[in-house]
Amino acid sequence: MPKLIKLPGLIDPHVHLREPGATQKEDFVTGTKAAIAGGYTLVLDMPNNPIPTISPETLQGKKDLANSRVYADVGFHFGASSKSIQYFEVIKDQVFGLKVYMNPTTGDLLMQDDQVLEKVFSAWPKDKPLMVHAEGDTLQKALGLAKKFSNKLHVCHISLKQEVELIKQAKEAGLNISCEVTCHHLFLTDQDKEKLGSFGMMKPPLESSDDQQTLWQGITDGTIDMIGSDHAPHTKEEKLGKKPAFGVPGLETSLPLLLTAVGDSKLTIDRVIELTYTNPQKIFNTPVQENTFVEVDLEESYTITNESLQTKCGWTPFVGREITGKVKKVVLRDQLVYDGQNIFGPYGQVLS
Ligand code: DOR
Ligand code: ZN
Ligand code: ZN
Repeated sequence: MPKLIKLPGLIDPHVHLREPGATQKEDFVTGTKAAIAGGYTLVLDMPNNPIPTISPETLQGKKDLANSRVYADVGFHFGASSKSIQYFEVIKDQVFGLKVYMNPTTGDLLMQDDQVLEKVFSAWPKDKPLMVHAEGDTLQKALGLAKKFSNKLHVCHISLKQEVELIKQAKEAGLNISCEVTCHHLFLTDQDKEKLGSFGMMKPPLESSDDQQTLWQGITDGTIDMIGSDHAPHTKEEKLGKKPAFGVPGLETSLPLLLTAVGDSKLTIDRVIELTYTNPQKIFNTPVQENTFVEVDLEESYTITNESLQTKCGWTPFVGREITGKVKKVVLRDQLVYDGQNIFGPYGQVLS
């Protein structure tokens, strides 16, 4: 028996749509089609392109490229670098957050110099999310800087028990801080690494089941505010090469995995809505999309396949996984944009 329920159009604060510069992996068309098929009607794109989004020109260039081609609404984050600080005041109202890469990962935006980091934290507006990629011990440094400069800190993709504990303490101490977790860290562990090979390699990496349990605890007790897919597609060839790129796609699998977890009584549907809509909307201050909703069937069971994906990369680390919970329909501003099989559009908007 189908059990159809309505959800709001979901918001993903953390995706890599790869355009410009890496459109062999994904582009604005395929990435936003993947978003719609996954129940996301609004996504926020990261700045670590080959030519990073660290100037007004590169930001405008992305907006121009996305214009008239996106199937979901798309907003952008700005990248922190020693050279981009001068533009913070100019671009602050055109982006949803600033991304600071404090550990090495895809792209050239690594920032480890304490003096430059201080300048970044001090110059970014206090009422806009300052998002950090800060793994393990680096998180302590990010928390110290956010405390010193009173930032609105958002910690991306937490994966370790130690990180959940640090964030819990920081929240209790009154810091203005939020955090996200990915579905690959919630539904895969280091035990899956052998089977997945480079298709299970991302930053931060898959961790132990002990760490994973603490993430689920953080979901339940409210320490974790939202799900960010960290949709980071790379081609199969890039994954199978000598130096595989880090990252996995996630836009089309996150909601189905979460709905399956609802069926397994690991969380409630109300909590899913908070994690994928209410909290990202509030924290990133995204515009409300009128007459927009997603219809899901909580009872429909199926197996995830690579062939059914909209993402250009054409693979997922969750291939073969049994799911209960299917996106049946997506409506964006009264327009049918997905009927469970076909995508219609483009009806998305570029957000400023
Ligand atoms: O695995 C990752 N992939 N982690 C990141 O921080 C960046 C991302 C990418 O852009 O490929
Ligand atoms: Zn990251
Ligand atoms: Zn990312």
